Amino acid sequence: MQIPSEMTVVEISEYGGPEVLKPATAPVPRPGPGQILVRIAYAGVNRPDALQRAGNYAPPPDASPLPGLEASGHVAAIGDGVTRWSVGDAVAALLPGGGYAEYAVTDADHALPVPDGMSMDRAAALCETFFTVWTNVFMRGGLKAGERFLVHGGSSGIGTVAIQLAALHGARVFTTAGSVSKCQSCLDLGADQALNYREADFVEVLRAEGGADLILDMVGGPYIARNLDALADDGRLVQIAFLQGPEVELNMTQVMTRRLTITGSTLRPQSPAAKTAIARALETEVWPHLASGRIGPVMDSEYALADASEAHARMESSAHIGKIVLKVA
Ligand SMILES: NC(=O)c1ccc[n+]([C@@H]2O[C@H](COP(=O)([O-])OP(=O)(O)OC[C@H]3O[C@@H](n4cnc5c(N)ncnc54)[C@H](OP(=O)(O)O)[C@@H]3O)[C@@H](O)[C@H]2O)c1
Repeated sequence: MQIPSEMTVVEISEYGGPEVLKPATAPVPRPGPGQILVRIAYAGVNRPDALQRAGNYAPPPDASPLPGLEASGHVAAIGDGVTRWSVGDAVAALLPGGGYAEYAVTDADHALPVPDGMSMDRAAALCETFFTVWTNVFMRGGLKAGERFLVHGGSSGIGTVAIQLAALHGARVFTTAGSVSKCQSCLDLGADQALNYREADFVEVLRAEGGADLILDMVGGPYIARNLDALADDGRLVQIAFLQGPEVELNMTQVMTRRLTITGSTLRPQSPAAKTAIARALETEVWPHLASGRIGPVMDSEYALADASEAHARMESSAHIGKIVLKVA
């Protein structure tokens, strides 16, 4: 495979709105020891890309400054010590950044095979959400069969995966979303109840059911106190974002008296070993279900790489359901 020295990318020309995403050229990165170079077919678009674009989510020091945390494509080159992959292999890859480009490097252990029969556009939409949901809902949150699970933002990229994986593992799934049609999509994915948060009070509904054993929340702000109210005794709250802000005043009494757990995590700064552990668990526990078609990414829309600004505008309009991808090759 001939690898050029330069490639087309979309860069963050300055911090700001979607319009600051601009096509540019950059050197093709070279894989270091333990890394692979991926020739990207499609790149996934995620909310953290918009945070980075706005100047609110700096990439780790050793990562590409380009946005893009996941992609599908083919291995174009391998670094020293990589035995798992060969040039030409089709992969779905978690990236430390740099996905809005024709080529990106990542740790060889953070790529997974494209599930049998899955198209490359769908494969690009897997890693960021499946890694995040797996580590937060199952590894950190310890969700078990029969438990009541609430995920806010059920129609988001993250929410659509959380609903499917929790239902697959036998949980009773409750979710919130901002419209009737979004709620219907959540029910179609396997949620037992989908609450339009503009009309229904999730605290009331969950408490009537005995409380949530686990809540996955991306909203924060005023939802934090309400989430504690909605938890069952011994319930766990896992925080993965703060769309309505991280700063709150809380009465912590019920954390003590009802033995609640508040935790959270963010994927990108985790160690390579931690991401490898998530990848191995996903390959065993989840990838077979993607290959069988029992679960899958929910695809909203596709844009050309050069139109990444339009993709961000759609994501930030919150009109989408599921995942947005960029066609690169
Ligand atoms: N911790 C981690 O490792 C990690 C990794 C990836 C993503 N995340 C976070 O997880 C969240 C979802 O990511 P995504 O890529 O799936 O994003 P997404 O598809 O854009 O989903 C965000 C959803 O949140 C809802 N929303 C937007 N603004 C809101 C607000 N102010 N209050 C309440 N709800 C709001 C919208 O649905 P409605 O119309 O229903 O309101 C929207 O669909 C993001 O906040 C992202 O930063 C965290």
